Formats: sequence, structure tokens, C-alpha cells
Amino acid sequence: MFYHSALGTLAFLASASGYVWPSPQLDALESARFDQEGFNANPVAFFVQPCDSFINGSNTGRSNAADWIRTAYHDMATHNATDGTGGLDASIGFSEEQARPENAGDGFSNTMQLATIPVSRYLPLLADSIALLALLAIENCGGPEIAFRGGRVDAGVPNAPGVPQPQDDLDSQTASFARQGFTQTDMIGLVACGHTFGGVQHDFFPDIVNVLNDPTDLADVAHFDTTFVTFDNNVATEYISGTTRNPLVVGFNDTTNSDKRIFGSDGNSTMQSFANSPATFASTCADLFARMLNTVPSNVQLTDVISPLPVKPSNIELSLNGDTLQLSGQVRIWNITDSTHTVNMLLEDHNGGISNITLEFAGLSSSTGGKYSAAWYDFNATDRLSTLYLDAAAGVKSLSFAVDGALEDQNGLGFAIQDGFLFSQTSCQVAVPLSGRIDVAVWNGVNPTRVFLQEITVTTDSVQRIVVTELDILPPAEPVPANSAYSIWSINVTDVGANYGIGAEIDGVKYPVTDPHSFTFPLCQT
Ligand code: HEM
Ligand SMILES: *[C@@H]1O[C@H](CO)[C@@H](O)[C@H](O)[C@H]1NC(C)=O
Ligand SMILES: *[C@@H]1O[C@H](CO)[C@@H](O)[C@H](O)[C@H]1NC(C)=O
Ligand SMILES: *[C@@H]1O[C@H](CO)[C@@H](O)[C@H](O)[C@H]1NC(C)=O
Ligand SMILES: *[C@@H]1O[C@H](CO)[C@@H](O)[C@H](O)[C@H]1NC(C)=O
Ligand SMILES: *[C@@H]1O[C@H](CO)[C@@H](O)[C@H](O)[C@H]1NC(C)=O
Ligand SMILES: *[C@@H]1O[C@H](CO)[C@@H](O)[C@H](O)[C@H]1NC(C)=O
Ligand SMILES: *[C@@H]1O[C@H](CO)[C@@H](O)[C@H](O)[C@H]1NC(C)=O
Ligand SMILES: *[C@@H]1O[C@H](CO)[C@@H](O)[C@H](O)[C@H]1NC(C)=O
Repeated sequence: MFYHSALGTLAFLASASGYVWPSPQLDALESARFDQEGFNANPVAFFVQPCDSFINGSNTGRSNAADWIRTAYHDMATHNATDGTGGLDASIGFSEEQARPENAGDGFSNTMQLATIPVSRYLPLLADSIALLALLAIENCGGPEIAFRGGRVDAGVPNAPGVPQPQDDLDSQTASFARQGFTQTDMIGLVACGHTFGGVQHDFFPDIVNVLNDPTDLADVAHFDTTFVTFDNNVATEYISGTTRNPLVVGFNDTTNSDKRIFGSDGNSTMQSFANSPATFASTCADLFARMLNTVPSNVQLTDVISPLPVKPSNIELSLNGDTLQLSGQVRIWNITDSTHTVNMLLEDHNGGISNITLEFAGLSSSTGGKYSAAWYDFNATDRLSTLYLDAAAGVKSLSFAVDGALEDQNGLGFAIQDGFLFSQTSCQVAVPLSGRIDVAVWNGVNPTRVFLQEITVTTDSVQRIVVTELDILPPAEPVPANSAYSIWSINVTDVGANYGIGAEIDGVKYPVTDPHSFTFPLCQT
């Protein structure tokens, strides 16, 4: 009775608005994709903004944005469309792949270094981060919007080689793109779409680029077009007008002029269409980039396209304090640019009671280079931590919202809240070291087959994957009542400050792991 039936089954069903909240993976992907600047900004977008930012400072001629786009392409380019192996699976993180001649340059070590910060505890996978960062680099630097799907899976071993190189002849490059799943016309497009960013470095390609002696281009990068941190069709207009300085078109050694061979391979007709129309270039690139990012091993199932939820609860935290449930959080209202709206939250408990709470404006956020805005509202207008104090015995079943009087309840489902297991504020710490006891409150009358703590650490394995560990909590020998509604399950841990969430399997149903607690544990009584 404690949980909403939607939790287990509806998470991945598409709806008009995209998906049904809560869905930890989709919620996290949606946030990484759309909560970019301002209130509750997800830090992931900062890797690629501003568009000319580079890990080693300014005036290098390089940019993180270009490195992410090239990383995504080289990771994907191992795909074999016939047998379904390879694709965008973060295998580029393996030093063995990075050491191959086809992956010359330091762009991959740069991006993989930045990627050690997990997007969220629900996105420990690198492959989705590579795809998302390439997408954000393109979109936020003048590019078209790209349909984003999540669900990529990180490779366990390197993929077979297969990235085309400048000195390869046209036939082998065309065959390489065909193996990746792209036609000759796609190849012309994808190379042009990628090579509107960045350029070729002297250090790694001394046979293509000379030392430049340019104080604004310290890494000696010969750029593909004059606007190398911006998505635009200059790569095509400069090529067609004969003014291009693209080092893979007008390089001094014709053997490595691969863009020249590729761009001219259909008599310039594709490049001419790009030069004629920025809109054609943008829409073609949006399609090709989406296909590139979605080229994954054939056993990987991607999610639906992630679109912004019109109303989205966020930072939900529920804990038990005596007879009181403390619920904190905010709700994001999409496509609002100001603080003048009336937002009410209708909170339904397990007895059918409904509380009607007027929320207070908390802040604005934006995404996609300021193209979209959203406003955030706090759950409790008067509380510093925006905490609501609820009767634990009544619990909390679901939320719905009224925005300027219009009901937002996910087509009648409500926004389900899981109150079956949560942190109890009786959890405590021993001063030094930070060992202690974590108490989990479990709703009476349910049958947990497993309760555990899950820890996500920022330390990573050899391919920068985030390490996940789980600690099982044994059922108490005797029931330890917390109040009339909850009992306590406890576990002693050596680091109470770790980034734990709680997971549980109840009657065979596996529930999403909660977010970590934000309250501080008191000292344990001895
Ligand atoms: C035949 C196909 C291709 C060849 C031979 C090729 C070759 C190269 C070379 C030699 C560099 C210089 C790398 C460095 O100096 O660090 C480069 C950079 C780059 N390539 Fe390609 N490329 C190809 C296709 C693509 C595709 C399809 C994309 C993306 C859709 C792409 C995106 C990029 C980007 C963004 C850079 C700039 C990297 C930076 O400035 O850090 N390339 N490419
Ligand atoms: C792609 O897979 C097919 C089927 O297994 C195989 O015959 C072909 O050689 C592979 N291509 C490359 C370039 O490895
Ligand atoms: C950044 O600078 C450090 C120190 O000079 C160097 O080792 C590293 O390769 C540079 N990284 C990139 C991506 O330029
Ligand atoms: C041109 O590039 C090719 C491939 O890198 C190389 O084998 C050849 O020696 C170069 N030719 C000249 C004249 O530098
Ligand atoms: C394509 O356009 C370029 C630049 O105008 C020109 O140099 C080249 O000869 C053209 N190639 C073909 C195959 O028409
Ligand atoms: C966003 O809000 C504006 C102004 O209220 C409205 O005209 C527009 O249709 C909305 N866009 C979406 C995608 O809901
Ligand atoms: C919630 O309360 C507000 C007044 O604060 C009222 O205008 C609104 O109609 C109420 N909503 C519901 C669904 O009862
Ligand atoms: C909001 O917070 C205040 C201050 O802590 C508290 O007194 C009040 O009960 C809270 N409101 C609700 C509805 O829980
Ligand atoms: C935790 O440690 C304390 C003190 O050593 C001990 O009394 C208690 O039984 C332990 N609890 C669990 C759940 O292991």
C-alpha cells in the first residue's frame, strides 16, 4: 500500500510529454540535457562552455567542444553495421585504442580526463556522457537541436580498429563509412558537420601542418574554417568559394588532403547545397549527428528521445524524524521565463487526504544557449531547506501541481513518491573516524526481500568507469519500531559520510535507489 503502482511498471512508457516521472535514468538524462545554467544547473554542460574554453587555457587554438565531437566520432567509428559490433560505447577510453595511429592526438586523453566526474549517480556510464557532451558542444555553439537518446553501455574491452585516416584513399574511406552505416553522401555530410569545429594540430600531424608561430594559436592548430568554435556552414562556403584554409583540403601534401577528396567525391553537389543554405546544412547535420551518436552495438537498446518534462519534481528527499516525515524538494516548470506564476502542490497521503500547498519561486534556469527557460519552485515557502513536515502514519503517496490553475498530474497518474524505505534521522556517527550507524526506516507490513546501501564513488577503473558498491542490510532479529508506521533496519559502516543511497527489493520488485541524505547525522549515544 505504501507505493504507487506506477513505480514498477510505467517508468519507460512513453507519453505525450516524453516519459513518466519518476524514472531515475531518464530523470537524470533529462536533467543533464536540459538543466544547464542557473538554478539547479547540472554541471555537465560546463565542460563545453563557453565554446572556446579549453582545459589548458586560452589562445591555444583548441577547444574542449571540438575534442568532445571528435571523441564521439572516433568512439563510434569502430562500428560494424554487418555484425553489430562496436559503436559509441566509450571504448575510446581504453589506452590501447588511444595509442592506435588512427587515434593520433591528445583530444581523447583530454575528454576522458574531464569525464571522471559522473553526470549523476544514475549515469555512471561514460558512453552516454560522451554522446551528451558532443551534443551539447554542437547545440550550444550555434548548432541545430539534436534528438537525444540515452542508454548506451560502456564496452568492457577495446573495439576492432577502423577509424579512417587522412592518408587513406577515397575508396577505403568510403568503405569505412559504409561499414559504420553511412552512405557516400552521409560521409560528405558527416565530415563537413564535424569539421566546422576545430582543426589539425602540428604536434601530432607534422606532415600536414607546419609550425604556425601565431600567439593566438599556441598549439599550432590549422583550423578547418575561420569560425572553429562555432557551428556554421563556413566550412562549406569557404570550400566552395576557393578561400578555404582547411589543412585537409589545401594541405601541402595531397596524399593527406582527405576532406578535398571526400568533399569533391560527388562533384561538389553536397558541399554546394551546404554552401547555398545554412538551413540545409543545419538540418542535415542534426540528422547525421543523431545517427552518429545513436550508432551503438546492436545488443544495446537506447531510450526514447528525451524531451523536457513540462513539470518535473527534483531533488526529492524524504526522511523520518520521530513521528514526522520530512519531505524536501523543488519542482521545475518548463518554458517559463519569470517568477510571477502561481504554483500549488497537491500532496496526497495514503488515507486519501490531500494537502494544498502554495509554493514559492526559487530561481530560474536555462538551457541550449539560453533558448529555453524554466522556473523552479520550493516545496515549502517558509522553510530554509524547503522541507515539509508530514504525519508519518499517513505517509505520502503522490504529488500533483497546479500551475496558474492548470492541473499537472501526468494524465491522472500523479507524481508518485516512494515512502516505503528512507533514511531515519536516528542514524548517527562516531566522531573520529567517521564510522557510524545508518538507520533505514522500512514501512511496516511490507515484505522486503533485500534492503541495501548503494555507494557511487568518483574513483574510476582503468577506463574511467564509475565504481558502484552495494552493502546489504540484514533484517533485524527483532522488529525495532520507529513509530506506528515504520521499523528500523540498521547497518554499521566505516564511513557514514559516503555518498549512499538506499535501494530495496520488496515482494520481488526492485525499486530505484534513493538520492543520498543531505541532513547531518548526530553523534551516536554510547
Ligand atoms: C575521413 C574522415 C576523417 C578524417 C580523415 C579526419 C581527420 C581529422 C584529423 C587529422 C584531425 C586533427 C586531429 C588533431 O590534430 O588533434 C581531425 C580533427 C577533428 N575531426 Fe576529423 N576526420 C574525419 C572525420 C570526422 C568526422 C566524421 C567528425 C565528426 C562528425 C570529425 C570531427 C573532427 C573534429 C571536431 C576535429 C577537431 C578536433 C580538435 O580540434 O580538437 N572528423 N580530423
Ligand atoms: C564486419 O562484420 C562482418 C560480419 O561478421 C565481417 O564479414 C566483416 O569482415 C567485418 N568488417 C570489418 C571491416 O571488420
Ligand atoms: C595540457 O597541459 C599539460 C601540461 O603541459 C599536458 O601534459 C597535456 O597534454 C595538455 N593537454 C592537452 C589536451 O593539451
Ligand atoms: C605525403 O604524405 C604521405 C602519407 O603521410 C607520406 O607517405 C609522404 O611521404 C608525404 N609526401 C611528402 C612529399 O611529404
Ligand atoms: C569543388 O570545388 C572546389 C572549390 O571551388 C574546386 O576546386 C574543385 O575543383 C571542385 N571539385 C569538383 C569535383 O568539381
Ligand atoms: C512556451 O511558452 C510560450 C509563451 O507562453 C508559448 O507561446 C509556447 O507555445 C510555449 N512553448 C512550448 C513548447 O510549450
Ligand atoms: C489550492 O489552494 C489555492 C489557494 O491557495 C486555490 O486557489 C486552489 O483552487 C486550490 N487548489 C485545489 C485543487 O484545491
Ligand atoms: C514549512 O516550514 C515551516 C518552518 O520550518 C514549518 O513550520 C511548516 O510546518 C512547514 N510547512 C509544512 C506544510 O510542512
Ligand atoms: C553496530 O555496532 C554496535 C557497537 O559495536 C553494536 O552494538 C551493534 O550491534 C552494531 N549494529 C549492527 C547492526 O551491526
